[in-house]
Amino acid sequence: MVSLPAAQVEHGPDPVRKDGILGNRPDPAKFLERSPKLKVTVLDRLHHQSVLSATLFDKELLTELAKLAAYLQLGRFPAGHALEDKIMAAAFFEPSTRTRLSFESAMLRVGGKTISVADAKTTGVAKGESMRDIGQMFNSYADVVVVRHTEQRAIEDLTEYLKIPLINGGNGSDEHPSQALADWYALLKWNPEIAFGTLPEQFRLNIGIIGTPGNMRTVKSFLMLALLFHENINHITIFSEMADPLGDEMRELTKSSPIGIDFSRNLKQSLEYLDVIYMNAIAFLGDGYRSFGSEFALDNESNLKSDTVILHPLARGPELCTGLDETQHNLYFNQADGAVWMRQALLLAIFGRVRDVVPTTFLA
Ligand code: CP
Repeated sequence: MVSLPAAQVEHGPDPVRKDGILGNRPDPAKFLERSPKLKVTVLDRLHHQSVLSATLFDKELLTELAKLAAYLQLGRFPAGHALEDKIMAAAFFEPSTRTRLSFESAMLRVGGKTISVADAKTTGVAKGESMRDIGQMFNSYADVVVVRHTEQRAIEDLTEYLKIPLINGGNGSDEHPSQALADWYALLKWNPEIAFGTLPEQFRLNIGIIGTPGNMRTVKSFLMLALLFHENINHITIFSEMADPLGDEMRELTKSSPIGIDFSRNLKQSLEYLDVIYMNAIAFLGDGYRSFGSEFALDNESNLKSDTVILHPLARGPELCTGLDETQHNLYFNQADGAVWMRQALLLAIFGRVRDVVPTTFLA
């Protein structure tokens, strides 16, 4: 095993130890202990690649990205100027707190520049401009574009004329692939064995998903990536009121998985055996949103196992009680915090700049 060199902190104190993040804060260094060398050739697969769906990733690519993110989080690589000749457009035609700001923060932390649309009403969309035409403008103004839109089709329409990589920052009820990267970055830090080991049968994860992969983009992308870790997942239970929570696409994707997947409306009865709970606040239904009922809520009185962790892409609603924030069940703030490192790793890989920031002693 290669020992980790001393931290070369470029931007002040080690960000892992910064104050203010409540809850469970797994150490990125622990995640790196099992496999410290980076397989840059694996990350090369993302060079000039658009990220439209979580299906782009396999276990090896996701793991190498998470390793790069962990090194960046630890401040081990001097990456602060890596993308100083690049511009990222963050084009958000639907509200966002975390995705837009964490992508902008990620780009700035690796030296890049950002231009932003925070509100569709400030663009030509308000005058009826088409997404295809907007796509042509992005080619001239930026080197990569992160797009969020209420419409599933918007991403497809944009790519028709787009020559630069596009990262899907959430398209209607369809997908949110970089959120799923952040979700799994948090989980792999929490238990590195998921990526690097084979858990004994009795320790394989039982995951509860509160939501409907068929029409909730974060839940869908999370589940897509969960399938990559089938050796270490025993069972996934999907908690939903809907008759068909999976939908056609996810039914097809999950039918050949060895992971047992079942459905339940009774969260309370299942809590005592869940190791990981992934929850979300809202489902997209046509033009609107629907919140989940109170039977799918968690609070300090919920009968959780002592080591159960909760993930939530946020923003939260009443389904996730703030009383859980200061407990070790809370992995959701670490999930949101880790997104900025995972998105830096993603941007570096898309621009083919990983070799510029990783010292050769770290390369496999
Ligand atoms: N997780 C997530 O997509 O949050 P935002 O809606 O704030 O971007």
